[in-house]
Formats: sequence, structure tokens, C-alpha cells
Amino acid sequence: MTNHFYITTPIYYVNDVPHIGNAYTTIAADILARYHRQLGDDVFFLTGTDEHGNPAARAAERRGLSPLEHVNEMVKRFQELAQRVNASNDFFIRTTDSEHEQSVQNFLSKLYDRGDIYLKSYKGLYCPACEAFYAPKDLLAGKCPDHGTVCDEVEEENYFFRLSAYQSRLIEHFDKHPEFVKPQSRFNEARSFITGGLEDISISRATLKWGIPIPWDESQVVYVWVDALLNYLSALEYAGDHDLTPEFWPASYHMMAKDILKFHAVIWPALLMAAGNKLPEHLFIHGYLLMGGQKMSKTRGNVLDPFDIINRYGTDAFRFYCFREVTFGQDGVVSIEGLEARYNSELANDLGNLVSRTTTMIEKFGGGLVPAATESSKSDIASLAGSVTSDVTAAMSRVDLTGALEKIWVLVRRLNKYIEDEAPWKLAKDETAASRLELVLYNLAEGLRICALLLQSFMPETSTEILSRLGQATETGGLQQRILWGGLKTGGRVIAGEPLFPKIERS
Ligand code: MSP
Repeated sequence: MTNHFYITTPIYYVNDVPHIGNAYTTIAADILARYHRQLGDDVFFLTGTDEHGNPAARAAERRGLSPLEHVNEMVKRFQELAQRVNASNDFFIRTTDSEHEQSVQNFLSKLYDRGDIYLKSYKGLYCPACEAFYAPKDLLAGKCPDHGTVCDEVEEENYFFRLSAYQSRLIEHFDKHPEFVKPQSRFNEARSFITGGLEDISISRATLKWGIPIPWDESQVVYVWVDALLNYLSALEYAGDHDLTPEFWPASYHMMAKDILKFHAVIWPALLMAAGNKLPEHLFIHGYLLMGGQKMSKTRGNVLDPFDIINRYGTDAFRFYCFREVTFGQDGVVSIEGLEARYNSELANDLGNLVSRTTTMIEKFGGGLVPAATESSKSDIASLAGSVTSDVTAAMSRVDLTGALEKIWVLVRRLNKYIEDEAPWKLAKDETAASRLELVLYNLAEGLRICALLLQSFMPETSTEILSRLGQATETGGLQQRILWGGLKTGGRVIAGEPLFPKIERS
């Protein structure tokens, strides 16, 4: 039976242009989506934009545009970013899609009919950038802990969701599903939000016009976070030519950074419980990309432009750098200098050189044809490839993306060392060493093929290029079979070609 794998990114706010933090989660989700397609799973990968709410409305006003004009323009940059990072998303949801709006209204009507929503007057401290209320104790020096800005005192009559009624069911769910939130530290954090006590939350806004109308009271719009969370369900209803919900819900993974953990680990599951839906299998919470020690954010203005980076260094180098440099799950500093250093040492020197040396030597000393296996092809290179493959498989199942890359590089480096040790250019001069030379070229080609397959989800273009230079099939799927030592299709023509990663000269 085919396994279904549904993975999502947060839907991004469109009040400003995208920065590399947005690209980061999209690439992480893309790596997992591609990896699961390699395993043969039926994958649905969703990303998109969160277009309602105060920040978008205010940004539109500043620009003298209507909110819809503003978001229609901004969304293009986010769609372009998804393409430029080579995201293989199956759908791009916009919360302004009419089907999404209808789906949100249906969902809330159901909760209203079940008695989980009621009207109440409310006063609180509100951060417009977070779209969230804060208790005074949660503020840092009287300011929003995330944005460092002053919160507004807001009083209105709103519809409330009975979040407090779900406290014990939520705790029960956490205790029954220790892998619900990963990594463990985030699980503990989320669980303690819940044990710390839950208050009912306001799910509508009376003062804001830019949102989905509450179906039974059109004077109010749906709170943007409820609108946004529901994208994960609504998209399945209309992304395909039939309702995909039965195949793909519950989601396998919601990926995000820790800033939005509470919404996903507390409010989202409670909303789903209230509607009688299953809960997602896992939330995976990664860390922040930092610049100069601070979280990169549009509000702070310390952002790296992903389009710039991709134009300068290429999509695959960017994808590689993000996950090689910062241990996935933890915070880490990124910089152009760091990217150039990794690019030169690990892409130009390690991987790029391995590809050009292997293919050039096959051209020169192997007649330009993919070498055939010989009796003695079972070498320590073969056993290393086997152990690296199982390490990468284990790392991918833990969503340890950095660990997987580290393991792949063990094989890349070992193959480079093998070239040094065996010196095929010397073997080529020695007539008695012909079979040894054939063996060495075979081991190199086969080792490199395995590296390319393991890299496919991380660096799809590079992987395809390596496989085609080696005369191998480039389609995805069947990984478990194809990854085995000995799978090299022999006899085809090998192409040496241009360097994959020309060295960057520091300016
Ligand atoms: N619209 C909400 C999400 C709704 S999901 C139902 C939102 N949007 S956002 O544009 O602010 O995106 C936040 C997400 O972007 C983070 O959770 C994370 O996935 C990603 N990142 C934003 N900045 C980041 C870093 N500096 N580092 C890593 N990830 C970053 O919140």
C-alpha cells in the first residue's frame, strides 16, 4: 500500500517582501517532500501566503492601495521565491482564495453550532505585528517579546472559542503521542503552555475589515490566525480535481520555527478536536537563522535577500548552505562570508572536484564509458557507501537534515581520498595494473552515483546533473533499490563537462 505523506510550511505574511527565513522553512519542507517521493510515497506538499489581517491592511494603506491590490502584488514575490528555491510544492494556497474563505466559514459555523464559540466583551494588550494578545506578565519591559514594540490596549466585543475546555484532552494527546511535537525540547515547551492553564481565545475582530466575515455576524471578521491555521485543511479540499482530504489528512508534518509553536501546538489541535477532526501527526519546530546574533526579521530590518543569494551562488548552493551551516532544529548564524567559505571548501573542492576528477578520468583512462563491475568490486568503499546510506536514512527519519548532509560528505571526502591513494593516472601508465584501474574507476563512479542519489532531495539540480554525466537514470522513486551498491548502469557514455561549482574568488 502506498504511504501518503502530507507536509506543510507556514503560510507567510505578505506585508513585506520575503527574506531567507521564509525560504529556509520552504526548503526544509521541500527536502522532506522530495525525499519521500524518492521513497515512493504519495506526497502532497503545501506552501502559500497568509494575506488577511492588520499588517497587510496597514501596509496597503501606507502604499495607497486597497488590501487586495497590495496582496495581489506581494504574493508574486512569494510565488517566485518558491520557484527560485526549486520548491516542488503541489499547491500554493492564498488565504484570499474564495474556496479557502468558504471552507473557513463552514468550519467556524460548525463550531458555533456545537456551542464552542460565544460572544464576550474583551480588553487586552495586543501586538499588531504578532496578531496576538499578550498577558502583561509575558511582555518584556512592557513590550512585545518578539518584536520589541509597544502593545496596543484594545477593547472590543468578540467571539470566543472555548479553548479552556480542551486543556485535559490536549494534555492527554501530548502524553499519548510523545512525537507529536519535535524536537523534545519544543514538545516540553508546548506541553507546559497547556499545563500552565488555557484561557478562551478571541477568534474574531470587530474593528478590522480585511478578513473573512464571520458567517453568522458579518460585522466581524475571522481572527487571522484561525483563518491561517485552517489553510492546512482547506487546501486539500480544492487543490486537486477531487477532495484530497481522505488521502492526505492528517498531515504528516507541519514545519515551522518556534515563533509560532503555541498557535500550532495548542490552538490548532484544540480547533481540530472541536470539529471532530484528527490531529496532525507531527509538528517539526526548527530554529532561527540569525544575522549578527539576532533573529532575522522584516520588522527588525536585518534580512538577507534570498533572490540575491540565488542569483550569485545558485539555488543548490543556497539550499546546501542553509542546512549544512546551521544544525537543523537549532538557531544559527548565517552570513555571506560563511556561505562563500562552505561553497569553496565543500562544493567547489569536495563535491565539484570529485565529479570532475571522476568523469575526466573515466574519459581519459576508461574509454569514456561507464565502467563495469569486476569480481573484486566489493571494497571498503562499497561498505562505507552502505553504512553512509543507512546513516542518512536514519537521519532523514529523524528530520536531522544537517546530520544527513554530514554523512553524505563522509562519503564524498572518502572518495576524494581514494583518488589520491589509488592515483589512477599512475595506474594508467602501468600495463599490469589494468584491472586495478578498472576497479578504481568503477568504485568511483558507483560511489559518486550513490552520493548523487542521497543528495537528490537537498540539491536536485546538482544530483540530476551528476547522474546524467554518469549516464544514469535521473527520475525519482525506488530509492531503496537504486541506492544499493552495484546498481550502476554500465556501458553508457560519461560526460566530463564544466565544473559544477566554479570557485569563488574573494573580492
Ligand atoms: N502567517 C504566519 C504563519 C501562519 S501558519 C498557519 C506567520 N508568517 S511569517 O511570515 O511570519 O512566517 C513565520 C515563519 O517563517 C517561521 O515560523 C519560520 O518558519 C519562518 N521564518 C521566519 N523568519 C525566520 C528566521 N529568521 N529563521 C528561520 N525561520 C524563519 O508567522
